[in-house]
Amino acid sequence: MLSTPEVLRRTGGRPVKSIVFDEATIAARVQALGDEITQAYPDGQLLILGLLKGSFIFLSDLVRTIERPIQVDFLVASSYGDGKVSSGTVRLLYDPETELEGKHILLVEDIIDTGKTLQRLMALLGGRRPKSLAICALLDKQLASEPRPELRFVGFRAPPAFLVGYGLDHAEDFRHLPFIADLE
Ligand code: IMP
Ligand code: MG
Repeated sequence: MLSTPEVLRRTGGRPVKSIVFDEATIAARVQALGDEITQAYPDGQLLILGLLKGSFIFLSDLVRTIERPIQVDFLVASSYGDGKVSSGTVRLLYDPETELEGKHILLVEDIIDTGKTLQRLMALLGGRRPKSLAICALLDKQLASEPRPELRFVGFRAPPAFLVGYGLDHAEDFRHLPFIADLE
């Protein structure tokens, strides 16, 4: 268990098991992803869509490393299926105000677990006739699920643990940690 005073001050006394990705490691990887994205989109309008709430810190760091014109908006999606039978649909609780048609769309997500939510979201957004539609995920747990959405940009392969920090939460706690930790 990691229980240094600096960690405990931030978590209210709850220890974390280990720091999986520290601040410097995250910053270097985010910069590399930003460079990749800048090079991958030589022309056209690029709209970066952050999936709330988990992507908010990653997105705000990522967009500042992209050296081309972009637009930024957000999505709030809700999927049915918490313990009940999934209806196989995803509903947008907040729909981007910006037009998607004819633009390159890059969906930014914090972590891919089964990828089911994103798979459905891709189908929904694909129906709005974007010029291209791709995913950038900070973390990929690589859990087997079919069909799996294609991830064009990935920050890190994630261990099969419950991760918190840098936007990721456990019951809304820990999102503000500047590093990514294994909670249990
Ligand atoms: P999926 O649809 O199964 O890929 O679920 C992905 C979503 O589950 C992410 O957007 C997160 O909100 C949440 N999630 C999955 N794994 C973790 C984790 O280790 N920590 C925090 N949230 C997670
Ligand atoms: Mg999420």
